[in-house]
Amino acid sequence: MKDVIRHLIQQALTRLSAEGVLPEGLAPTIQVENTKDKTHGDFASNIALMLAKPAGMKPRELAEKLIAALPVDERVSKVDIAGPGFLNFFQNGEALAQRLEAALADPHLGVRKAGAAQRVVIDLSSPNLAKEMHVGHLRSTIIGDGVGRVLEFLGDEVIRQNHVGDWGTQFGMLLAYLEEQPIDAESELADLEGFYRAAKKRFDESPEFADRARQLVVELQAGDADCLRLWNRFNDISLSHCQKVYDRLNVKLTPADVKGESAYNDDLAQVVADLRSRGLLTEDKGAQCVFLDEFKNAEGQPLPVIVQKAGGGYLYATTDLAAMRYRSQVLKADRALYFVDQRQALHFQMAFEVARRADFVHPGMRLEHMGFGTMNGADGRPFKTRDGGTVKLIDLLDEAEERAYALVKGKNPELDEVELRHIARAVGIGAVKYADLSKHRTSDYSFNFEQMLSFEGNTAPYLLYAYTRVASVFRKLGQALDVPLAGHIRLEAEQEQALATKLAQFGEVLNNVAEKGMPHLLCAYLYDLAGLFSSFYEHCPILAAEQQDQQQSRLRLAALTGRTLGQGLNLLGLETLERM
Ligand code: ARG
Repeated sequence: MKDVIRHLIQQALTRLSAEGVLPEGLAPTIQVENTKDKTHGDFASNIALMLAKPAGMKPRELAEKLIAALPVDERVSKVDIAGPGFLNFFQNGEALAQRLEAALADPHLGVRKAGAAQRVVIDLSSPNLAKEMHVGHLRSTIIGDGVGRVLEFLGDEVIRQNHVGDWGTQFGMLLAYLEEQPIDAESELADLEGFYRAAKKRFDESPEFADRARQLVVELQAGDADCLRLWNRFNDISLSHCQKVYDRLNVKLTPADVKGESAYNDDLAQVVADLRSRGLLTEDKGAQCVFLDEFKNAEGQPLPVIVQKAGGGYLYATTDLAAMRYRSQVLKADRALYFVDQRQALHFQMAFEVARRADFVHPGMRLEHMGFGTMNGADGRPFKTRDGGTVKLIDLLDEAEERAYALVKGKNPELDEVELRHIARAVGIGAVKYADLSKHRTSDYSFNFEQMLSFEGNTAPYLLYAYTRVASVFRKLGQALDVPLAGHIRLEAEQEQALATKLAQFGEVLNNVAEKGMPHLLCAYLYDLAGLFSSFYEHCPILAAEQQDQQQSRLRLAALTGRTLGQGLNLLGLETLERM
């Protein structure tokens, strides 16, 4: 609808220019917003305020001329001037109802992608395999998963890349420790974090051990078969730990999505050679660097991207350059989205710039760092266990389910154990995920069990419950949510209109999430939708409606709300429940 209005305004502007009312050649960005207060219409534009000056007119005067020049469109019932010269558009209820009918008849709920379908690489999760996956990787995993699902729903082809850290000096230390331990160290490896700590302790205490570790790194890099076997075995175990977490979280990551740093080992020398042949390399104290003038340190000196150390070793940035080239040339991506901690923002800005200058990526390819803030504890400080250690993801998920179990059992003691466990899983895991997804991606947030498990506010329990309420209407009718319904949507009561207007925005919201990589926009939308459904449900009796056609209309609205909520929660990676 916003596009429709933008187009109408554009036509009015062209007409006014042709008539000489506006100067020729104006090409403003036409802004159209949803209004908060529906008594002032459904959409507003500040176009008359923006163009008043170049037009040499008062905003209200220009607004009047614009209204007179707007083409007639059956989807718009009225246009008013408000305040200093805003244009307020009222949409035609009949046209709105028809759009909802179309959504109801469509498994895709009438949602279309704005623009052509694309191939999108999503770099997500990407833990370091030397250690156990911890809460720091939670955000990347679930935000990346949510955005990936939305892109797929809109018709994009999504290629997930789990760029795990499976290479580097710390592996020498681990291999040296594995060598010392009897090889059936399976039980030790059940606790990767402990294993890492023990190896680190040996490394710090014993110079001989440290020497052996360094030697093993060299052997590993030289492709020694025994080293590679141990290394592979270690990574397999570590990756299977990760996969357990992914399955628990219900994220769409599989072993096939793993493309770790080591996968690019053979390309690194070529990356450096290509940078050299393009004249981009400078040697600085023996290291190979690309200096970028637009990035300067505190002293105003250009910052380098170091691609090879003086000793010959390659770096994180070298691997990322190789990965970008692969994503462009082999995967043929139109976009590559990096869901990585905000603290790596500079790394990505610089690496993207080097890749462009070196033509490692095709000119039309978008490289986007979707940075996210830190997850803190309830005290606002970095998330730690009581004794100051890092919190394991799996422990966190266990606790979430236990708490959800107690909560649900408290409310519904009569539920049987199997169902209780099922609900506890959906609510507990859903709460952890939703709490993360609903925050603005770039801000830090505090992890707080009490808040995320509350039935009030913008939380998973609230939304899952809202969904069960819609489901219960249909259960009482003995009918599933997706069965075709009789009748037509008629928007009469104020609550019906407000709900309908919100429902019609689903596609626009999903397109925004896809474009900006911001799932909190979808959470906010679903929260608003659930709230509007509540007031509709309170004020507009459905099963007790007075006339049959009114009941049919309300059932249709409820069904579309249920499907939209269900689809939205599914796109966020939450499991919905029929009752809870
Ligand atoms: N392994 C890295 C870390 O834990 C994240 C990798 C992100 N992806 C990338 N292409 N650099 O910090």
